Amino acid sequence: MSKLSNAEVQELLRRSGVPMLKSAAVAVVASPEDKSITQKPKNPAANKQSTFLSDEIVSLLSQQVGNESFAAYSYFGGAAWFGKRGLDGFKKMCETQAMDEIGHARKVFNHLVDANAPLTLPPIVAPFMEYQDVKEVCSAILDHEKSVTKSWRAIGDKALEDKDMATMSLAQWFITEQIEEENKASALYDRVKMAKDAGILIIDSDLKKG
Ligand SMILES: [Fe+2]
Ligand SMILES: [Fe+2]
Repeated sequence: MSKLSNAEVQELLRRSGVPMLKSAAVAVVASPEDKSITQKPKNPAANKQSTFLSDEIVSLLSQQVGNESFAAYSYFGGAAWFGKRGLDGFKKMCETQAMDEIGHARKVFNHLVDANAPLTLPPIVAPFMEYQDVKEVCSAILDHEKSVTKSWRAIGDKALEDKDMATMSLAQWFITEQIEEENKASALYDRVKMAKDAGILIIDSDLKKG
């Protein structure tokens, strides 16, 4: 007796009035020549990976991929704001930072992948872009860098508690990186705070060179 294809089983279920199941959850054994089966039956055990990372670290790091990606997105938002106002130096700085943040997200992502962690990436929301002036954008950049530092400290603390040397080393790299990024953002905000319009143009010109 020939085996039924997935499409045939679905059709029989539909005709019999049995509530339809999602196709991936229907266990159908396909004959080798049956090309109608494109999805394998769900087997949760087959997706279970083993990782040395604790569940909480996996969750914190997955969230951090989102935080770093959102940081990139926020810098792109800043770049768009500056670009609209002809402040090309500020725009360039934001774009450079955005690419750095993408590199950060990738570094965390690869840490999870290399550790065989079950990865679920969080959603990323739209960045705020309705700034009133240059000072407000630079203040938001500084605040955002501070919040990223805070999340890395939490990851470092948990990794220490877990005696997870690999994640401790990753967090240490990022915390050192954050000192530099916060200092840069803070110095820019301080300059912008004191500057009048002509001063903003001088800063913009400096950023264009840098
Ligand atoms: Fe970052
Ligand atoms: Fe950053």
